[in-house]
Amino acid sequence: MIADLRDAVAAACPAASRVVVVSSPRVWTLHGPTVVAGLGLSAGDDGPVLVNDGEKAKTMATMGKVHDALVARGVDRKAVLVVVGGGVLGDLAGFAAATYLRGIRLVHVPTTVVAQTDSAIGGKVGVNHRLGKNLLGAFHQASLVAVDPAVLSTLTRRELRAGLYEVVKYGVIASAPLFARCQDTMDALLDGDAQALLPVIVECCAIKADVVTKDEREDGLRRILNFGHTIGHALEAVTQYKLLRHGEAVAYGMKAASAIAVARGLWHEDEHEALTALLDRMGPLPAIAGLDVDAILAATRRDKKVIAGALHFILPTRIGETTTVTDVDEAQVRHGLATIGL
Ligand SMILES: NC(=O)c1ccc[n+]([C@@H]2O[C@H](COP(=O)([O-])OP(=O)(O)OC[C@H]3O[C@@H](n4cnc5c(N)ncnc54)[C@H](O)[C@@H]3O)[C@@H](O)[C@H]2O)c1
Ligand SMILES: [Zn+2]
Repeated sequence: MIADLRDAVAAACPAASRVVVVSSPRVWTLHGPTVVAGLGLSAGDDGPVLVNDGEKAKTMATMGKVHDALVARGVDRKAVLVVVGGGVLGDLAGFAAATYLRGIRLVHVPTTVVAQTDSAIGGKVGVNHRLGKNLLGAFHQASLVAVDPAVLSTLTRRELRAGLYEVVKYGVIASAPLFARCQDTMDALLDGDAQALLPVIVECCAIKADVVTKDEREDGLRRILNFGHTIGHALEAVTQYKLLRHGEAVAYGMKAASAIAVARGLWHEDEHEALTALLDRMGPLPAIAGLDVDAILAATRRDKKVIAGALHFILPTRIGETTTVTDVDEAQVRHGLATIGL
């Protein structure tokens, strides 16, 4: 909880020389006072380093501004960088922490569902290159991830929902109880009810932490997190990252992958129906009818996760379990796309 941040940082980062906060103007306006109180900062302390967030700002240039501030303030190796924001800010400021003086300690205070359940956990930090997303980065584990669902109350409904699609993903890949809880409490989750969100977020964190502990560098198990992402990434790419929030693209990707799994006899029609019904209940996704199927197919082949030419698909076998399939052919992908109206 943010109210206890000072003690939590002290416990997780012994002998810290100082705390430097990085946030964005938007997030700081909404949650700065709570963070200042939680960290016990006073008027004499340095203010936060504020840089823009949003995917467009996730660049070396923005990260450079964080470096500039650290140098200008004479920040030393024993300092702790506390980043307050969504996944963009966490990745970007995390990369700054990984590179400044060859690495200073990092604390995440994630403020979106995506950041609380995914990006703040696992140690991947980085920025985009002009020619591709997340092409520059490092592994830098945070000393502390301070999750407080109360901060999610200021998210737009669409932003909240986009994050919750990936929560459903965690249920499908790793936890039938989580999936059931999503079914039971979805209305409260969509309302941003912190009581309902907390147990769900905690379970997602546990799943992500478990997966990345077993496979920090994405050699095998970590790939299950990409359920829904092969087609999801392709949909984002062909719509120039403008039409769909990432989570929305993943929702479409999960529906398509689920249909492919049924077609291959891997999972049951009833489970496909249950997943589709839950996703549909969460609200309408932006319309994608009319997108060029051939362009989507080409984009799936360009995905970063293509290994030695084989298209890896994570397909569900039952709620809570998946399998990796490397021989999904074009006809099957077309079938999956047809089920989402393409
Ligand atoms: N490192 C990883 O393992 C990992 C995993 C998943 C995603 N990511 C990265 O995360 C990024 C996406 O993160 P995101 O979805 O959090 O997007 P984001 O950081 O761009 O935040 C989305 C928007 O919400 C605003 N915002 C943040 N917190 C808010 C709050 N509490 N109230 C109101 N508005 C708030 C931000 O200002 C921004 O406009 C992508 O760049 C992706 O690559 C990284
Ligand atoms: Zn994702």
